[in-house]
Amino acid sequence: MAEKLKNTKLKKNIFALIILLGVCFLVFKLLPDFFSIGAYSPIEPIAIHSNGKGFTGSEACAECHLDIYNTHIETAHFKSSAKANLKTVKGSFKDHENIFNLNDSIGFKMEVRNDVLYQDAFLKSNNAHISSSRFDIVIGSGTKGQSYLKWQDSSLYQLQVTYFTPSNSWVNSPGYPSDQVATDRPIFGRCLECHMTYAKSTERFYKRNSYEKSQMVYGIDCERCHGPSNDHVNFHRKNPLDTVAMHVVKHGDLTRQQNLDACALCHSGVRARRSKSPFSFIAGDSLNQFSTPDYTEKDLKNLDVHGNQYGLLSASKCFKKSDVLNCTTCHNPHENQRDDHIAFNKKCQSCHDSGIGSHRICSATEESKKNSDNNCIQCHMPLTFSKGMKIETSQGTLKAVEVRTHLIGIYVDSLSQ
Ligand code: HEC
Ligand code: HEC
Ligand code: HEC
Ligand code: HEC
Ligand code: HEC
Ligand code: HEC
Ligand code: HEC
Repeated sequence: MAEKLKNTKLKKNIFALIILLGVCFLVFKLLPDFFSIGAYSPIEPIAIHSNGKGFTGSEACAECHLDIYNTHIETAHFKSSAKANLKTVKGSFKDHENIFNLNDSIGFKMEVRNDVLYQDAFLKSNNAHISSSRFDIVIGSGTKGQSYLKWQDSSLYQLQVTYFTPSNSWVNSPGYPSDQVATDRPIFGRCLECHMTYAKSTERFYKRNSYEKSQMVYGIDCERCHGPSNDHVNFHRKNPLDTVAMHVVKHGDLTRQQNLDACALCHSGVRARRSKSPFSFIAGDSLNQFSTPDYTEKDLKNLDVHGNQYGLLSASKCFKKSDVLNCTTCHNPHENQRDDHIAFNKKCQSCHDSGIGSHRICSATEESKKNSDNNCIQCHMPLTFSKGMKIETSQGTLKAVEVRTHLIGIYVDSLSQ
């Protein structure tokens, strides 16, 4: 009897123990998940690259890279494309300032109707309306100018009237006729590739000018240079103690040529014979596998200053005689440094003031240097008129845009400037 009682008691204890262990197991297994629900939920991508990786947009980066985010949104890169509205379009919609005279008989009027911006063509003789186009997308931060695109269903076209910053006025888009209202020009992938983070064609090889509206990532944002980073964001939100960056392009690990290519993608002119579609290049890739330069070694010194900083720089002695010089030697890609000549001059001096080895000291006379505040750039990277970028400011008058040459050298005229 006593034996049997002892047995049932033991059985009950074992049973209780098993239940207890079971409950403990469940608590340990489920509790962390339960508590982490509030702390971690993945951020959904805003667009998907053709390689399958997701884009998140820079707002999500601010959570962990606030300083970089805050300066980056002030750059020409970030502002290089956007949805059109009164804040992003630089030209004026105010009475009198909103008129562009194409010629003696045709004018354009920029107007806001129900919060939508339009450019309307009209006959000057009787104000008769000719056509209307919506401003949907802005291309250009407005440093030198802006062009505008419109959607027609899923197709993109460039509008005839462009804004030119140096004259603070509306002008005819480069290459458009000035004797008639033109048919809007279709916008192909190459144009967007240099001014946006991502645009997805409705077709596999970007053959036409039609895109998926929900897959457009405006501006040259973080992920244009660091690759689509949705996995990076979600990994680090989930593993806040991990300090080694995952799933993102690290420029420090790239070779000099890879780093140059990441900028040359858009700063080495219109390259030829592309074997792959726009937007397929990701920083870290080798650019020559995607396209080839449309110039040879011989042409380097005659390249247009607009859009080919890479070609010109690579013809300069500073570049050829140094193993390290690349775009980020002088440019901080996260900051708007326009006109900050003091900062740029310091970069020149960091090599040249030492006079060590082949880093030679400026041999211009002290007097001429003093007269120009010893501004290295003014004499050795002078502003130069572009051969290709010309704007028609008034009918028949073409004005070339001035760009700073990246052919660093000795310019005979520099002393008289
Ligand atoms: C939840 C936090 C978090 C978010 C959000 C985040 N990052 Fe990071 N990131 C990190 C951590 C941690 C590192 C590693 C430490 C460091 O370098 O600061 C890092 C490093 C980097 C690096 C440097 C890699 C290297 O070593 O050179 C880049 C580039 C980067 N992140 C880009 C981005 C971009 C782009 C976004 C937004 C799309 C983003 N990060 C969003 C946490 C985050
Ligand atoms: C996706 C194409 C693209 C890539 C990649 C790119 N750029 Fe640019 N960059 C542009 C465009 C377009 C502009 C003109 C933006 C504007 O004013 O609308 C520009 C402007 C600039 C400017 C002038 C900024 C100003 O204040 O006016 C500098 C400097 C520059 N880029 C340097 C770089 C460097 C350095 C890299 C590589 C780390 C780089 N870019 C990568 C397209 C690109
Ligand atoms: C025009 C290309 C470009 C854009 C746009 C860009 N980066 Fe970078 N980023 C670079 C390059 C190049 C480096 C390496 C810098 C160097 O070598 O000095 C870098 C370095 C970094 C680093 C590591 C070193 C550091 O400075 O802390 C982080 C983190 C980073 N970027 C985050 C971002 C984030 C976040 C954004 C957007 C808010 C962004 N980047 C936008 C090109 C870019
Ligand atoms: C190969 C790359 C590339 C292509 C393709 C390209 N651009 Fe650009 N664009 C640039 C660069 C780089 C700059 C600024 C730097 C310079 O002037 O060298 C620029 C400047 C501009 C500017 C002046 C921006 C400003 O704020 O000053 C406008 C407007 C512009 N481009 C419109 C267009 C349009 C519209 C297309 C397509 C029909 C196009 N671009 C095609 C690279 C490109
Ligand atoms: C990474 C180091 C480095 C930086 C930064 C640098 N240079 Fe140089 N530079 C060199 C070297 C190396 C040479 C070649 C000297 C020689 O001929 O032996 C050179 C040559 C020159 C020459 C002579 C060119 C010729 O054709 O004879 C000038 C002028 C010059 N640099 C100006 C500048 C200016 C201006 C800046 C800043 C915008 C600058 N450099 C930035 C390394 C640099
Ligand atoms: C030796 C220093 C140096 C190097 C290296 C350098 N730049 Fe520059 N860059 C400058 C200076 C100085 C300016 C003029 C800035 C200003 O006036 O605001 C400039 C201006 C620019 C501009 C604006 C041009 C304009 O007039 O609108 C672009 C775009 C640019 N750089 C791109 C690049 C690219 C891409 C590379 C690499 C291939 C590069 N830079 C390498 C010094 C340099
Ligand atoms: C007033 C215009 C002017 C300014 C400002 C100026 N330079 Fe020069 N620099 C010249 C001229 C002109 C020469 C060629 C002198 C000669 O050969 O007699 C020269 C020559 C050079 C050389 C080549 C030296 C040699 O012996 O071959 C270097 C390197 C150089 N400058 C760098 C710089 C740097 C860096 C700065 C800014 C700290 C600067 N320069 C400021 C006009 C200028």
